[in-house]
Amino acid sequence: MASKGADVLIIGSGIAGLMAAHLLADKKNVILITKSKVEVSNSSWAQGGIAAAIGPDDHWKYHFKDTLLAGQDHHVQDHVAMLVQRAPDLIKAMKELGVPFDTTSEGEFSLGMEGAHSRRRIVHAHGDQTGRAFTDTLINKLQGRVTFVEETMALELLKQNNKVIGVRTNKGKFLANATILATGGAGQLFKRTSNVREATGDGFALAYRAGAMLADMEFVQFHPTILFTKNKAMGLISEAVRGEGAVLVDNYGKKIMEDHPQKDLASRDIVSRAIHHAYLEGREVYLDCRMIRDFPTRFPGISRICEKASIDLDERMLPVAPGAHFMSGGVWTDQCGRSSVEQLYAIGEVACTGVHGANRLASNSLLEGLVFAEAVSKDLLTQESSPVFEVIETSKVVGHIQLPSKESLQERMTEWVGIERDASSLMKMKQWLQPYLSFVKKSVFQDKEHVEMANMLLVASIMTDAAFTRTESRGGHFRSDYPVANDDNWLKKYITTSLDNKANSKNVVLGAQS
Ligand code: SIN
Repeated sequence: MASKGADVLIIGSGIAGLMAAHLLADKKNVILITKSKVEVSNSSWAQGGIAAAIGPDDHWKYHFKDTLLAGQDHHVQDHVAMLVQRAPDLIKAMKELGVPFDTTSEGEFSLGMEGAHSRRRIVHAHGDQTGRAFTDTLINKLQGRVTFVEETMALELLKQNNKVIGVRTNKGKFLANATILATGGAGQLFKRTSNVREATGDGFALAYRAGAMLADMEFVQFHPTILFTKNKAMGLISEAVRGEGAVLVDNYGKKIMEDHPQKDLASRDIVSRAIHHAYLEGREVYLDCRMIRDFPTRFPGISRICEKASIDLDERMLPVAPGAHFMSGGVWTDQCGRSSVEQLYAIGEVACTGVHGANRLASNSLLEGLVFAEAVSKDLLTQESSPVFEVIETSKVVGHIQLPSKESLQERMTEWVGIERDASSLMKMKQWLQPYLSFVKKSVFQDKEHVEMANMLLVASIMTDAAFTRTESRGGHFRSDYPVANDDNWLKKYITTSLDNKANSKNVVLGAQS
């Protein structure tokens, strides 16, 4: 199959990929590849909104402080400063681009509240359909300006002289001066998730096999309130619902978060663990939304999710359980989104820019997508494009082994590497993954289903090893054998992993790669 060339290749169509495409499209020839339809992404499902210090009582310094508190001081602070300082201007820019933000009767941005924020600062659109409003606006603006290649699965990144020069897909090769991974997260590794079906950790696996460094992979954020009925996850119930007063109660009517100073708006790891414990004790947990009078107007998307799950909205007691929501770790990047491999960039959830620390603050993820898409675009616009020639190195072995089912992986990850882990559960996971490892680290399948499964196994292994290595509890990573939070000996220590296990940054603890 003939290869196609571009200045910039973007893999993934969430907010980060679309925004980068938008900012580059007038100066560079851009191809955006997605394994599904361009409209499908975790971003398009984002409900709560996007955090920005724009209220009269707010300042980026408060947003900065809240971000550090939620993430347990595990951040790259310069990057957090960049994130929160760019937020107000980027919101204005997105408004000018046409995002239909919700406003008050005075025409100001309507500001929502979410967990661990000290102020109302969540801008939103169409109530709880903010992500869709962003992605629709960007997709519209991109028509005719970039080439969209849909239903195309990335199999491996192509390298020449240690530089990434494109990607091999199930529909041929795409060569480019620069390749941007914007592939999102890995929620599908777990039984219950808020993520789209496509979130199988592909970008982490592609980057790892290409030699890039990954960091902080032990920090998985579990969202406390996934609608959970008939033993099935039916969709996310935004934290913004608790921001409007909803309260978590058990089936005896006891308020789950009563004893915490921040009550139902404590950070997500804390609320998730409280709900997890209630279930372990045989109780059920409900989100009591009876006090929100205009629920269907304020939360039209969630109302539809409830209707689909046959939940009676008049009663407004929603059965909930925690589920995998967001990867705070990922492909380690600098302030321009550059990975440790030349000409490979990463933005959005697949990246680890250090802005989320050990636990992401609510509604900072769409923001990260925008801010780092802008940073990558600035970097790429300073580069001259030159023709990329056909690949000489072909990297990976093509092969086949019998892989386990997705469900069996999800069961085990949920039980052994879930909301609470310990050395013994992590060791069980390591042993279970062992037979597949040498194969999935180096080899590539040719069809989407097997590629996704191999990617999930590889990411599960990297996550498990990182969780095993970090012998403390911090943010989204809770070790029940090390329950005391935030051991000083681990402060600012980053667990990194790469194919050759070579760390290239200060304060790094190498993950034990089996
Ligand atoms: C939510 O609406 O609760 C999710 C928003 C986020 O994860 O930032």
